[in-house]
Amino acid sequence: MTRILKIDSESLKEAQKIITSGGVVAFPTETVYGLGANAFDTSAVNSIFEIKGRPNDNPLIVHVHRDYDISELVYDIPDYAVTLAKKFLPGPLTMVYKSRGKVSSAVSCGMDTLAIRIPSHEGAQKFLKYLDLPIAAPSANISKHVSPTSARHVYADLNGKIDLILDGGPCYGGIESTVLDCTSDIPVILRSGLISQEMIKETVGECGEYVFKEGGIARSPGMKYRHYSPRCKSVLYEYAEIEKAVALYDAEREKGTKVCILCDDKTAEFLGSRRFLSLGKTPEDMAANLYSKLRECENDTELLIAIAPDMRGGIMVGVMNRLSKACGNSNEN
Ligand code: TXA
Ligand code: MG
Repeated sequence: MTRILKIDSESLKEAQKIITSGGVVAFPTETVYGLGANAFDTSAVNSIFEIKGRPNDNPLIVHVHRDYDISELVYDIPDYAVTLAKKFLPGPLTMVYKSRGKVSSAVSCGMDTLAIRIPSHEGAQKFLKYLDLPIAAPSANISKHVSPTSARHVYADLNGKIDLILDGGPCYGGIESTVLDCTSDIPVILRSGLISQEMIKETVGECGEYVFKEGGIARSPGMKYRHYSPRCKSVLYEYAEIEKAVALYDAEREKGTKVCILCDDKTAEFLGSRRFLSLGKTPEDMAANLYSKLRECENDTELLIAIAPDMRGGIMVGVMNRLSKACGNSNEN
């Protein structure tokens, strides 16, 4: 069955054995846990898609250690990307470049680009350095379920399906990395995250944001899927709709529904004795707590009523993107 081991020389040796013989290993990063395989090994990469039940048109990110020479894997790295890498890497920023086609074509689902991430988590760096291979890794959850921010979360989704989870404690970032397209004249955000559009603009002057439209062509294929969803019914209200949200809670309680509100500390003050889970106070708290709170409530809740925090911009863009994909009504975007 699946073993959970702390990261040390023994468990790293074990991880290496599994990866070099074509298997997969879950490992911690500062954002969420990843499910890693050797990016050069097509059958190992394919098994990631099978284990997760992931659609086969949604490409994977390749993870490398801080000293890895990425010019072996990609080319045409623009000056702005060098500047951004100096400032933000290692860290929660994934950069998309033109691929040299060295890794298996299964990683990018046949596209001619490759997404590269250098995580800052100490355990991730140890794992990547020990292997000294590019590791293709999506989040280590069953496709469309809430992403895992602890070894326990990975175990809950993948027990029996993988051999080893390297345990590096809870992820302190909490939402997936910002995905940035670096194949054009200016950087374009494909998926928002902990490195915000404002931070990128401050560093290199310009930064676009790609907005996926229903029926349109997804430049980042992951954008078009419903994601991050708890296994209970859920609904999302704007901050201005607190009264409506509370009225729904009261009506459902009356009917005997097990209902819970997900909100931030500020909103929690208005809830009296109603049952709630708070994401905390700051945008950083909310990112760090979002997935563990979504997982916490799915177990004993029939209806989750999420109320958006009264904050916008910066990393709240990423937090709201995940919250609306988890609890919103739309099946797309
Ligand atoms: O923080 C993270 O990025 C985590 C940890 C494990 O590193 N990984 C993660 O992987 O979130 P995943 O597979 O759940 O999401 C990868 C995202 C998807 O939206 C995918 O479409 C996009 O990155 N992506 C991957 N390769 C791409 C490419 N070549 N061009 C555009 N988008 C790409
Ligand atoms: Mg994912």
